[in-house]
Amino acid sequence: MTDEEMELYLEAGKIAKKILNEGAGMVKVGASILDVVETVEGKILDTGAEIAFPLNLSRNEDAAHDTASPGDERVFAGGDLVKLDLGVAVEGMIADTALSVNLGGHEDLVAASRAALDRAITLVHPGVTTGEIGAVIQAEIEERGFQPVSNLTGHGLAPYSIHTDPTIPNVGVAGGAVLEEGMAIAIEPFATTGSGRVGDHSRIEIYQQLAVKPARLPAAKRILEQIRGRRGMPFSRRWLPQDKLEIALSTLVRGGGVYGYPVLHDVPGSFVSQAEHTLIVTADGCIVTTR
Ligand code: CO
Repeated sequence: MTDEEMELYLEAGKIAKKILNEGAGMVKVGASILDVVETVEGKILDTGAEIAFPLNLSRNEDAAHDTASPGDERVFAGGDLVKLDLGVAVEGMIADTALSVNLGGHEDLVAASRAALDRAITLVHPGVTTGEIGAVIQAEIEERGFQPVSNLTGHGLAPYSIHTDPTIPNVGVAGGAVLEEGMAIAIEPFATTGSGRVGDHSRIEIYQQLAVKPARLPAAKRILEQIRGRRGMPFSRRWLPQDKLEIALSTLVRGGGVYGYPVLHDVPGSFVSQAEHTLIVTADGCIVTTR
């Protein structure tokens, strides 16, 4: 990693940290989900940075990949457990960070994912394996009486790319990748009262362009036009022209150029917490860009 890239990662991290905390302060019983999401995304754009992915705002048993839908009328309720997962890109260098807001009764669950993250970070240095990191995350969460979500993972970061190698599991696995100096990674433990595995909802709010493929349908062409500047970073259904949106999106997904990320959920009635930081692996440890 060059010094200039490091500076950009640090700048993205600083912006992400500040805005994530401001967003968390807006999560209150009765507040509008759409309002929180639009305000947070607007704050990112106001800094001159890019939104690396739509603000993920997932509640209760939903673990990830939800965000406000167009015209969303949902409001926060007492007892909600709310995950905010935010991405900022500065000249392509990404900060990816998340926290959980407890609207009643989830103190221990919120503490579990945060403590697992803190413990994992203390382990990060060149030579440690992702399997060893997963093992401490799993141990910390299980010691606190919860389950880690085994099929959600942390990940590497690369310019304009949110998910690259290595994969960083939230459970102990044999072997795994060896961390090296100069890697940018995001570690994101999820703790749950449910089954420890998430499945797909039918609802999809967040999409990503995987390949440039032509479309004939005018509404689909309009979407491609609008997302071209994203350089492959994910986008929200809410950001798009609403005319013929559903048919246009499904045409693009069927054509294979666009992928839809279903909302991911644990079993109904369960609760999932999340904590996440972005780190740069250094010669003797790591720098946490989002703390
Ligand atoms: Co992430």
